[in-house]
Amino acid sequence: MTPVVEIETLERTFHVGPLAVHALRGVSLRIMPGETVAIDGPSGSGKSTLLNLLGLLDRPDAGTYRLDGRDLAGLDDDERTVIRNRTIGFVFQSSPMLPRLTAEENIAVPLVYRGERPYRARRAARRMLGRLGLETFARHRPHQLSGGQLQRVAIARALVGQPRLILADEPTASLDPRTAAETMRHVREHCRATGAVLVLISHDLADHAATDRRYVIDAGRLQPADHVATAP
Ligand SMILES: Nc1ncnc2c1ncn2[C@@H]1O[C@H](COP(=O)(O)OP(=O)(O)OP(=O)(O)O)[C@@H](O)[C@H]1O
Ligand SMILES: [Mg+2]
Repeated sequence: MTPVVEIETLERTFHVGPLAVHALRGVSLRIMPGETVAIDGPSGSGKSTLLNLLGLLDRPDAGTYRLDGRDLAGLDDDERTVIRNRTIGFVFQSSPMLPRLTAEENIAVPLVYRGERPYRARRAARRMLGRLGLETFARHRPHQLSGGQLQRVAIARALVGQPRLILADEPTASLDPRTAAETMRHVREHCRATGAVLVLISHDLADHAATDRRYVIDAGRLQPADHVATAP
């Protein structure tokens, strides 16, 4: 089986004046179809840098990145944008919605961009809302939704396009524990069912318990969380 994500000795250094900030120092990771991975780490450890590289929002200074077996090194920006739109779903801490569109329409947007017919896109959006327990809110506009509801709409929007890779930066931070657990369960089931993989940045131990593998990143180095000494 080909890994969905395969990165090897990825490095990213930022230059700020005379200073070189080594945000990632040789990060390697392989994620097989259907797997979910959680990453934790202190502020400034490189979590967002890694997510940006995985999401094709940034380029590494060294190392390789294969997505579904395809080496991404030689691609130009347009090719990367196409891959990003077709194969990657993002959920950020706060995911902006188009304010004049309903929840259902917001979720349908990425599909319509991709050339799906509007009525089919809306049908898929409604189905995804139903799966996340939000069918009642299909016609609500963003300002008529709570923070937690909005966040779940954002998750629905990330899943609806059947991405191969779902990148999430603290997606459950604004949810109560029960809704967070429910939402994570849906995302994990979605991954199992479609072969998509999830890379989740989270400080929440419950999120970590809900994923297949756990990692910690510290000062730009990634290692399995089980190898990190923790207090009993
Ligand atoms: N565009 C940039 N220019 C310069 N330095 C950067 C840039 N982006 C990140 N850095 C530096 O790289 C390091 C890693 O940053 P990153 O944003 O990946 O941390 P993080 O783990 O996401 O932290 P947080 O939990 O606070 O979001 C930090 O030292 C940061 O200052
Ligand atoms: Mg960050």
